[in-house]
Amino acid sequence: MNNDLVNQIRSKVDIVDIIGERIPLVSKGKNFFGVCPFHDDTNPSMSVSREKQIYTCFSCHATGNVFNFLMDYEHMSFPEVLKYLGDRVGIDTHGVHVGKKITKFDKFYDAYSLSLKYFQNNLNSTVGIKAKKYLLNRKIDDSIIKEFEIGLSLETPDDLTKLLMNKDYDLVTLNRIGLSNDNHDIYNNRIMFPLYDITGRVVGFSGRRYDDIKENKYVNTKETDIFKKGEMLYHFHVAKDECRVKKSVIVMEGFMDVIRASSIGIKNTVALMGTALTHDQINLLKRLSKNIILCLDGDEAGVKATLANGELLLKEGIEVKVVSLPNPDDPDSYILNNGKDKFIGLIDNALNFSDFKINKLKENVNFSSDEEKANYINKVIEETAKLDDEIRREVVLKRLAKEFDIGYNTLEMRMNRLLQNKEKKEVIFVPKKVIPKKDKYEKAFEQIIYFMLNNDWIITQVEKEKLIFPTEVMRNMCSEIIYYYKQNGSIVLADFYTYLNGKDSLLEFLNNILSCNYLETTDKNELFRYFKVIREYSINEEIKRLTGLMKKEIDPIEQAKIVERIRKLKLGE
Ligand code: UTP
Ligand code: MN
Repeated sequence: MNNDLVNQIRSKVDIVDIIGERIPLVSKGKNFFGVCPFHDDTNPSMSVSREKQIYTCFSCHATGNVFNFLMDYEHMSFPEVLKYLGDRVGIDTHGVHVGKKITKFDKFYDAYSLSLKYFQNNLNSTVGIKAKKYLLNRKIDDSIIKEFEIGLSLETPDDLTKLLMNKDYDLVTLNRIGLSNDNHDIYNNRIMFPLYDITGRVVGFSGRRYDDIKENKYVNTKETDIFKKGEMLYHFHVAKDECRVKKSVIVMEGFMDVIRASSIGIKNTVALMGTALTHDQINLLKRLSKNIILCLDGDEAGVKATLANGELLLKEGIEVKVVSLPNPDDPDSYILNNGKDKFIGLIDNALNFSDFKINKLKENVNFSSDEEKANYINKVIEETAKLDDEIRREVVLKRLAKEFDIGYNTLEMRMNRLLQNKEKKEVIFVPKKVIPKKDKYEKAFEQIIYFMLNNDWIITQVEKEKLIFPTEVMRNMCSEIIYYYKQNGSIVLADFYTYLNGKDSLLEFLNNILSCNYLETTDKNELFRYFKVIREYSINEEIKRLTGLMKKEIDPIEQAKIVERIRKLKLGE
């Protein structure tokens, strides 16, 4: 990679502008502060330094230069960011080579682009007439077909496999990336919906039957190196911009639902595609918006999925909203049958998840049975106790008291008991985050590393001194700094970040150092005082080691020798 060019682009943009265009920043002293977009927060825990051209979050350890920010925030690859910023500052990035890591799967992506074009061609030629008719019948017109890049696989069993082999793909690769099975195509005579990763690249397909065939409704690409179902959400790459505008994200079950909603202008939507939310997907959702609305199918399975997914989100501290559609509608059919305005009305009136759950508890309870009734009331109180908001707890209990003509105090007492238990449990099971206190040695080591990052001459001094750092991450950091310095002749912290790309433990360490307010510059005398502290540390460590050794030694003569060495060390000889 051409480092000069990369650093040149980096130095021509101002990180404060780039981040400021995406999240509101307030200037305070030397730095700018904003709400960190990389974890769930409302406090301005991210600081952006114009002087250093880096950002750091004191809460979630996100840190980096302008490239890191855009890669994480916009889900762009490094080359994409480079091109975007290059265009912005008028630097041609045409000849920039990209690192190996990024091109590892390029051939796979290319195979998917080729297949996509091939499927699209089929649908638009005469062989596609029947499939087109099916789509038009489902009110999927040409503009939707184009926007969602819908295509068609043919009845011929090996058309695509042959085409790709003519383009120099071998069968092993085609099998590995889920386009062929032996020498046959995976998809035959199906309407092909491309599936995108979070950056918008096609990484898989879902093929829908449309003829009279009796096989599975959908055939999906298997999990591959580039297609990991649990790490993506359908339509994420489009929704990410729209969610910022609409300030919410709507989660649906199927991509047909998302396509339909999009056709009426509701584009802040993603689809789960038949899976329960994974941890990765929850994190993706959190990045889209804090306001998450579940709008799954209205059938029994959809309600079950709503309860399960809502609970998962609640456990992560997110109270979702729920739209429950009449059984058996899904968003697609609901919009077709009732129109845009009715659907928007449902979205606007979405219920809080806990209210939805309480409503659901009520179903199938025989209220003429005292036992069932009491059981129901207890369950509602249990759910109410889970709410974090006191006012909402009171509202629910008051409603319950009125509905069943029970004294409010009775209900409240019961709930308070549950709350007390909950608190007790929390005390036992949720240990408070302990921030380890640093001793003077650790601080000295970290300070020296921070000096190195800001002053070339200190790097040379540290090398001369042959300092050995006590932890692996410090040692790695030190050798990376020295290596970088030798390669580049000088060190600029913001450019060093580019070099650290992907080395997560070092980035985390850097973030940790940055949040400690260490000194930036120093003079020789001061530096040598730090070296002295470090020497003291090394001596202490050596004494500890020798003491251990002595305890194990049984030969009294050897023991005496060790004692003598310890004595000398203590005297500083
Ligand atoms: P649905 O069965 O709700 O799909 O499954 P849909 O959106 O209503 O599709 P149409 O309207 O019948 O064409 C929701 C999602 O579950 C996955 C798909 O990703 C689908 O989008 N699914 C469903 C499968 O993978 N295979 C299946 O056989 C069915
Ligand atoms: Mn559906």
